[in-house]
Amino acid sequence: PQPRPLAGKRVLITAGPTHEAIDPVRYIANRSSGKQGFAIAAAARAAGADVVLVTGPVELHDPPGVSVMRVESARDMLHRVEAALPADVAIFAAAVADWRVATEGTQKLKKTAAGMPPLQLVENPDILATISKLKDKRPPLVIGFAAETEHLIENAKAKFARKGCDWIVANDVSPATGVMGGDRNTVHLLARDGKEVTVDSWPVMTKEEVAAALVSRIARTVGA
Ligand code: C5P
Repeated sequence: PQPRPLAGKRVLITAGPTHEAIDPVRYIANRSSGKQGFAIAAAARAAGADVVLVTGPVELHDPPGVSVMRVESARDMLHRVEAALPADVAIFAAAVADWRVATEGTQKLKKTAAGMPPLQLVENPDILATISKLKDKRPPLVIGFAAETEHLIENAKAKFARKGCDWIVANDVSPATGVMGGDRNTVHLLARDGKEVTVDSWPVMTKEEVAAALVSRIARTVGA
């Protein structure tokens, strides 16, 4: 039989983009496919965990045995994540929109002689930071992602302070890498232990392989 090092552990994962409505027919989004988060959910399930996957709009099937909740906006995602706690491990792989429009149009915006509609943006809640800073229900292991197009390690290290998470999976998403929407990923795992940050650079792998490697490292940390 397969080893189930995460049996009895509850793992919460976010994935995909979010959609931030502008009006009933338009939204702000990004190019996240959800593939990496879905692969992590499948790998955690294969390791025996109870897995809750909160995903934005993606064209992927539910991984078997995983409890999948489909949401649209960052605010929906935060509410679902909060409702899914407590968890032993939380992995925030979603590419959450940083901004939404201040006031969503109740009707489709129309072209008028007055010119362009002014779209005022406001900041979305930061789900990773919110959960990392919880007092009572903070999962013992909180993992964030850092998708960067330059100064990858430097930018990722700076995130520890802002986000308050324990590990960061940093990946280079420059267009030339084909990571966004693609099937492969080159990642660096940063782990914080007090003030010490260790960096583990992994070779280019498929997103399934990245998921399996991440899950085995999680299992070594929190597993039976
Ligand atoms: O600095 P940045 O926002 O790009 O950090 C990315 C990490 O934060 C990812 O783990 C992402 O899932 C998480 N995040 C979040 N909520 C946001 C923005 C980012 O959970 N509003």
